[in-house]
Amino acid sequence: MKKLIYGNLKMNFNLKDMENYCELFLKKVEQSKNEIAIFPSFTNLMFTKQKLTASKVLLGAQNLSSEVSGAYTGEISADMLKSVGAELVIVGHSERRKLFLEKNETINKKIKQALSQGLKVVLCVGETKYERQNRKYKMALEKIISETLKGLYENELKNIIIAYEPIWAIGTGVLPTVKEIEEAANIIRNQVSVEFTSQAAKNLKLLYGGSVNTQNCKQFLGANGINGLLVGGASLKADEFAKICNS
Ligand code: PGA
Repeated sequence: MKKLIYGNLKMNFNLKDMENYCELFLKKVEQSKNEIAIFPSFTNLMFTKQKLTASKVLLGAQNLSSEVSGAYTGEISADMLKSVGAELVIVGHSERRKLFLEKNETINKKIKQALSQGLKVVLCVGETKYERQNRKYKMALEKIISETLKGLYENELKNIIIAYEPIWAIGTGVLPTVKEIEEAANIIRNQVSVEFTSQAAKNLKLLYGGSVNTQNCKQFLGANGINGLLVGGASLKADEFAKICNS
């Protein structure tokens, strides 16, 4: 079955690097049966869109403003992203929470902005190491789901993909077991069924993210209830990411 393989390039690649990356990467994934998306920095979006014209690879942004427009120096709106051809946007990444102090309430507003412009949302959720070690991860995941999806209509959920990204696994090489991922996927789907309906929970697309690489991707793709991967570090190497996309 078709999997969703998404690459979060984070704050990497100037325009020239992006050009080299596209040249290498796009050739290698031409035949892939999976749904592939890349999430470059804002400054590379327009250029990358041009590179993607003859490709099935989708384009996403890594963040957006929670506001429509106006005096918000340095911010990028959903409308701006849409106008340069972005189809998806990552919201609520743990790096934004930790380093830029984003709260669930802001993330909720960002989701609504993105949806209002027809962007699909990749909502990142995950527990901290402390919450995992103290068996508070169920509560933590439920709270994030409940607060970030607050006020949404059930039919909007088809445009939301949730990425389970345990914070302790991001960029660390520390991996959860498949059983732990499956348990988290169940917790997330359960909470979506509490907030919306069991049908919405069943239809929900769930990704796993955190230290995914060519060696471990197959085991995560095989986890029950997981529909794909959100790849950070390993998506920066065109060769390596193409292998994951083709798996
Ligand atoms: P990582 O990042 O693959 O480098 O752990 C994943 C992410 O931050 O989405």
